[in-house]
Amino acid sequence: MPRCRVNLSTMIFLVILQGAAVVLFCGWYVQLSPCEPAPSNGKVHVLLLSSWRSGSSFLGQVFSQHPSVFYLMEPAWHVWTRLQKPGARVLRMAVRDLLRSIFQCDFSAMEAYLSERHNVSSLFMWSHSRALCSPPVCPLTPRNEFSNQTLCSQTCDALGLRVVEEACSTYSHVVLKEVRFFELESLYPLLQDPSLDLRIIHLVRDPRAVVRSREQSARAFVNDDAIVLEQRNTPAAEVQYKVIQEICRSHVRINERAVLKPPPFLKGRYKMVRYEDVARNPLEEIKDMYNFVGLKMTSQLGEWIYRVTHGKGKGTKKEAFKITSRNAADVSQAWRSVLPYNKVKRIQEVCKGAMSLLGYRTVNSDKEQKRLDIDLLVPQEPYQFSWLQAKTEHPSDG
Ligand SMILES: *[C@@H]1O[C@H](CO)[C@@H](O)[C@H](O)[C@H]1NC(C)=O
Ligand SMILES: *[C@@H]1O[C@H](CO)[C@@H](O)[C@H](O)[C@H]1NC(C)=O
Repeated sequence: MPRCRVNLSTMIFLVILQGAAVVLFCGWYVQLSPCEPAPSNGKVHVLLLSSWRSGSSFLGQVFSQHPSVFYLMEPAWHVWTRLQKPGARVLRMAVRDLLRSIFQCDFSAMEAYLSERHNVSSLFMWSHSRALCSPPVCPLTPRNEFSNQTLCSQTCDALGLRVVEEACSTYSHVVLKEVRFFELESLYPLLQDPSLDLRIIHLVRDPRAVVRSREQSARAFVNDDAIVLEQRNTPAAEVQYKVIQEICRSHVRINERAVLKPPPFLKGRYKMVRYEDVARNPLEEIKDMYNFVGLKMTSQLGEWIYRVTHGKGKGTKKEAFKITSRNAADVSQAWRSVLPYNKVKRIQEVCKGAMSLLGYRTVNSDKEQKRLDIDLLVPQEPYQFSWLQAKTEHPSDG
């Protein structure tokens, strides 16, 4: 019997000990995994969702040059160019699945779109990715330095894509820029995938400025336009209006979906950004975006951003995919002196809903269009204060 009593108290002690352990362990476990499913080994996946000529190359660079980011530009270009005369609708799942595997640093899906013997240089605009100009892909650019696209494209090619996967897996953030999404629904499975921690930054721009910019390199868009318009027969003079209409509709579709009635898995994962706000107040806006995805701003990056957004000279380079170092705020107003008013009027008609939703004021006459002291940007509520502050800091920007 005494033996039994000893065993009993030992048992009670053990039960209490176990209970305490369970409580401690659970507390620790809950701390590690808060209510939200935050798996993905802490890796964050960012989709820069935009449209052509909306400043997404610049924004892409802002992420690409960050030492914690593996960046790739427009992977869906490969899908859109590889198949014969498709429409955007039929391609969107293929694009979605390609993005998912790249977010997971698996490039096997990408290889299906490349020729059998491929290199890093087979990836569209590969030298825009600082990560593809840095170790382990290439010794040229130490990870915490800024890459030089020209030098990179001359010296950094490598055989196959295994080294790209290896590089990708060493970064905390995988950022993909894409201009070929026109809705959010196809991305829902990615938002619900426990192996991904997806954040969407939706970059929009005044459609009048987009049209003006697209006109400067119209030939570059012939194939994409046909896909956007589902290969329908559209009179040549109408194409630009139909395309911008599709783009404007997609902005409304995406923004309303994400803001008005977001499904629970979309909450806190969507951020809309206007190009013009970035142009007026680059540092503040970019800091916000970094914050949104959990990246740190460094003084080195801050200086770089200031440099590339306040460059000298008008520069009339026509390359469709070059990052500009002209004064970003000037560039965002250029359409007002270049586009004829009848064209502006037509764009405003086809983009009416989007312009009102996104905060772009319409002009009602040629005179109003040319009067640059009339501000056509409706301030966004959360940014109003910093925007006013920025105006006093850099009076030359407006
Ligand atoms: C990149 O390198 C090229 C070739 O050395 C040089 O001419 C160019 O100025 C560099 N660009 C920048 C932005 O440093
Ligand atoms: C791939 O790179 C190798 C050298 O790294 C080169 O010899 C070959 O021509 C390249 N192939 C392609 C398709 O660019």
